[in-house]
Parts: sequence; C-alpha cells; structure tokens
Amino acid sequence: MNWRKVRIFLVTVLVLCLIPLTRFYQIDEPLLRLLKGSRHVDPLSLHLAGEFVENNLGTQQDPDGSVTVRMIAMQYLFIPHCIVVPAGVPVHLRITSADNVHSLVFNGMDYAVKVLPGTISQAELLFPRVGEYKTVCREFCGPGHYAMRSELQVVPRAEFPALRPEERGNCAAQ
Ligand code: CUA
Repeated sequence: MNWRKVRIFLVTVLVLCLIPLTRFYQIDEPLLRLLKGSRHVDPLSLHLAGEFVENNLGTQQDPDGSVTVRMIAMQYLFIPHCIVVPAGVPVHLRITSADNVHSLVFNGMDYAVKVLPGTISQAELLFPRVGEYKTVCREFCGPGHYAMRSELQVVPRAEFPALRPEERGNCAAQ
C-alpha cells in the first residue's frame, strides 16, 4: 500500500469537506481577507457592513488635515452622486464596485481610477483649484455606461471645515 497516496487522498477529502463549512459559518469573508489582503471586500454586502455602508460614504476630515473620500461605483452611478473636497488638500480616495468594472475620471484632470468588484481601489488625489468637475465612467460597463456621471465640487480650503458632515457627503444638502 502506498501511504503517501493515501495521505494525499485523505487531506484532499478533508479540504473538500471544509469548503462548504466555511460558507455555513460565514467565515469565508474573513478568511478571504486574510488570504487576499486588507483590500478585499465583498461586493454583495457593501451596504450591510464594513467601511462602505451608506453613512460612511463621502468625504471625511482626517486628523492630519487631509481628507478621505469613500465611494461606490455601480451600474450606472457613483455613490455619493456629488462629493465635496477642499482645494489644495491631499485626498485619499477609496472606491469599490458593487458589480462590474468601472473607471472613474475627473474631467479636466489626469486622474483615472479603475474600479473593480471585490477589491478597494486607492488613489491619492489633489485638486489645486476651486471649481466643479464632472466625474464620468470611462470603462464600458453596460447599456447605461454613457449616463454614468456625477460631480465633484472643490471648495476653498478654509470653507471646508465649516461644512456639516452631511453637507460634505452630498452637495444637494448645501
Ligand atoms: Cu461604469 Cu461605464
């Protein structure tokens, strides 16, 4: 009898039995995060838990004076639809997709951020001038692709801290 083959067979059976168990106990997400790194995110549960829940989206002031912007791209919109950032301040963008591959570009700037489901795309941005930028999707993502656009407002650096949190996340609240 070949013990090596028996051992490989038993380990294979054990691993195959463990796979359904990970689904049952919902440990596959933490496990995947461990294996794939901290940028892994489950596209199907973005609205339920984690950093991309609705009230955590938009622009947040960081302790060092920079800001962090969290967004979701999905067919066929960016959430939040309109974001506000201060001029001349580093912007840490964190964005993920709920479905397809998208690409976020800011008209008039050179930035292009590819957005994929299952992972968090990070980008360091800086908008030196006050103004409005149309943000559009530049990756064909389905029949509504050409309508997938939103807005970025760059406000004077001194004005930004005076905005209420809900005004930072949604331009319509201003
Ligand atoms: Cu999203 Cu094209």
